[in-house]
Amino acid sequence: QQSVITDKFGRALQDLRISVTDRCNFRCRYCMPREIFGKDFVFLPKEHLLSFEEIERLAKIFLKLGVRKIRLTGGEPLLRKGIVSLVERLAALDGLQDIGLTTNAVLLGKMAEDLKAAGLKRVNVSLDAIEDETFKQINDSNYRTQPVIDSIIKAKEAGLEVKVNMVVKKGMNDHQVIPMAAFFKDLGVTLRYIEFMDVGQTNGWDFKHVLTKKEIFDMLRDHYSLEPVNPSYFGEVAKRYRYQGTNTEVGFITSVSESFCSSCTRARIAADGNFYTCLFAGEGFNLKDLLRSGISDEQMEETIVSRWKYREDRYSDERTEETARNRKKIEMSYIGG
Ligand code: GTP
Ligand code: 5AD
Ligand code: SF4
Ligand code: SF4
Repeated sequence: QQSVITDKFGRALQDLRISVTDRCNFRCRYCMPREIFGKDFVFLPKEHLLSFEEIERLAKIFLKLGVRKIRLTGGEPLLRKGIVSLVERLAALDGLQDIGLTTNAVLLGKMAEDLKAAGLKRVNVSLDAIEDETFKQINDSNYRTQPVIDSIIKAKEAGLEVKVNMVVKKGMNDHQVIPMAAFFKDLGVTLRYIEFMDVGQTNGWDFKHVLTKKEIFDMLRDHYSLEPVNPSYFGEVAKRYRYQGTNTEVGFITSVSESFCSSCTRARIAADGNFYTCLFAGEGFNLKDLLRSGISDEQMEETIVSRWKYREDRYSDERTEETARNRKKIEMSYIGG
């Protein structure tokens, strides 16, 4: 029996995003710039990561508290050893309706069939450009787009539902907005444009770098006819449209220009067991130490419930130049988006 727990603004706890590693094979300039995430950067040591047993135990508790949807993220989640077996354990849990994974897809091609067999339903692939030169400049790791595209096709063939996420940043990849639309429309894959957000302390965000939904939409409208699609569930993050006369959709994630905090039902657990009730939180609450101190499931439930009940986060509603610049925030590669 699932319960419904609501926060101070009446928002239910429905989704759980679990980051399984803080490492990544990319060094996207806007997420893990090499100057900071270089050779000397200290990632979480293995003993600080939640084990699969610990993740499963927490997932069960969250499911009991009303969560229906789990998303695995990173860093790059496919770098976590044994990830397929983690998916298998989570997918088998009672009450879970949806399980997805967000990835840069370099390793997805060869894992897609196993992930599908383990029970994964969906993958969201991060791809910020279709042209190699731009893509290489962004990932700063010499990866070309073809392996990512091949992985997307393999994942579809394996029966996974696939969407593509493109973070759009002015001066970085705005010239890729239309080429990306053309490519993924042809492939029949949903592309979602993500407004560049001020996550973390190292990504050098400024409002002048943001290409808003409206600006992107206007660019698209010069080439395509789009019709709106209704959200499929409460609190859906993306605003959706369909290319007229097709079944192919395109979406927008408008954290900056049209924030969606009022319907935010998401909890997040970082790879080291820190619990966050907002992507822009400054500090987490460590569940791993509690687990390892021998706490009972009931005590853990109470702890999570009490944190959710007092939740007042609505960062994107309140964002200003000042908060964007000066507020302490955790890194995207650590919290997992
Ligand atoms: P679906 O279940 O497929 O809709 O996935 P999703 O869009 O919730 O997750 P995904 O990992 O694909 O994230 C896409 C983008 O939305 C990323 O840039 C996330 O950081 C952003 N995002 C997801 N949830 C939130 C949120 O609660 N707040 C904000 N501000 N951004 C979010
Ligand atoms: N703004 C918006 N999206 C971001 N992502 C990473 N950093 C940012 C940012 N500053 C995206 C990734 C991935 C998703 C989890 O978050 O590209 O698609
Ligand atoms: Fe790029 Fe995603 Fe890796 Fe960040 S976590 S460096 S956005 S691939
Ligand atoms: Fe939820 Fe925080 Fe994002 Fe608002 S900014 S939608 S509260 S995670």
